Amino acid sequence: MNGDLAGALSLIKDIEGKITADMSVLKACDFVVCPPFVHLSTVKEHAKACTLGAQDVSEKPNGAVTGDISGAMLANIGVHYVILGHSERRQFHKEADELVAAKALAAHAHGLVTIVCVGETESEREAGIQNDVVGKQLAGSLAAGTSHKNTVIAYEPVWAIGTGKTATPEDVRAMHAFIRGELVSKYADAQDFRILYGGSVKPSNAAEIFAVEHVNGALIGGASLKAEDFLGIAVCC
Ligand code: PGA
Repeated sequence: MNGDLAGALSLIKDIEGKITADMSVLKACDFVVCPPFVHLSTVKEHAKACTLGAQDVSEKPNGAVTGDISGAMLANIGVHYVILGHSERRQFHKEADELVAAKALAAHAHGLVTIVCVGETESEREAGIQNDVVGKQLAGSLAAGTSHKNTVIAYEPVWAIGTGKTATPEDVRAMHAFIRGELVSKYADAQDFRILYGGSVKPSNAAEIFAVEHVNGALIGGASLKAEDFLGIAVCC
């Protein structure tokens, strides 16, 4: 919920300009930009190297659901990805795993790729129960029919989002290996899932995060609001 229309427009133009100025970045990464709903159509007009994503979707197919946006509506305007179960949705909108899974199902029905977020709070990490928390979120938030083709996992420790605190490479390694293991126990194509890390990723720490095994990309919040920082992260891919 950052910025305004003029800001969204200048940001996408800036990002696109920088990517096309350095095509090697484009070859190394897939770029997805996920602006607020109201800016999707405007951003879409300028997104050529970047694919479009949304930040949420309704679990309902259509009808009288005031204030919600359906998977069909997103697909219809050229959206390909949707972030689900972000910790801010879980915290401020009380979204539980079952709802995240229902939203994923609704999104997949329209060909959208879901970016399903999981992650423990600071107190859960201090209590040493981060694997239990993330394991439960994974078990509950992934819809029937999930595969690497329609789902990306994003590990976002809540205490690292927007705080400037980043998980250590060892924390990231341990959790991403755990997530891969959970996927292996359930999906034949587990090794092909992308597992993103999110939480205070910036140009200065991106290289060491991307070097960690089972880190297949990043979900970037604050740093994505500046084209220079966004691209500064991408070049570390
Ligand atoms: P951050 O946000 O990069 O600002 O920590 C991450 C997120 O909101 O997913």
